[in-house]
Amino acid sequence: MTFRTVTEYLLWDHDRLDATFAQVCVLAGRGEMPPAAVLFDRFHNLMMRHIRIEEAILMPVFEGKTGLTSGPTEASRREHKGVIEAIIAMKSALKNGSSSRFLEARRKFLSLLPSHHAKEETLMYPMIDQALTDEERLDLVTRLEEAI
Ligand SMILES: [Fe+2]
Ligand SMILES: [Fe+2]
Repeated sequence: MTFRTVTEYLLWDHDRLDATFAQVCVLAGRGEMPPAAVLFDRFHNLMMRHIRIEEAILMPVFEGKTGLTSGPTEASRREHKGVIEAIIAMKSALKNGSSSRFLEARRKFLSLLPSHHAKEETLMYPMIDQALTDEERLDLVTRLEEAI
């Protein structure tokens, strides 16, 4: 898959996160808690990588190019903290095999994540794509893709 813009790449990554999480929920819904916990670890790793590349690579470029340090990046950083807390709560529920605690933590998570993603997809990503030259944009997409 070839990505030419930040929006294309990070939207693809959001979709990958959503699909992985949906599979976790299918397993947990069937009461298959050990495999749900294994897949959740993959989801957790993918999510932490996504947040890491946004905060360490994307946001410094965004703030440098737009001069905005108290706008979309500040909101996203704050929302990441809530997302991570909800992930930790879901993880511990899965490890303990508690589907009721998992569902409770999932409710909190799903109250945060869709609006967080929607905001990034409509504001932060298009703004950074617009602020960059074609060459700078391709360079940034490569840095995001190659980050561990
Ligand atoms: Fe984010
Ligand atoms: Fe994101």
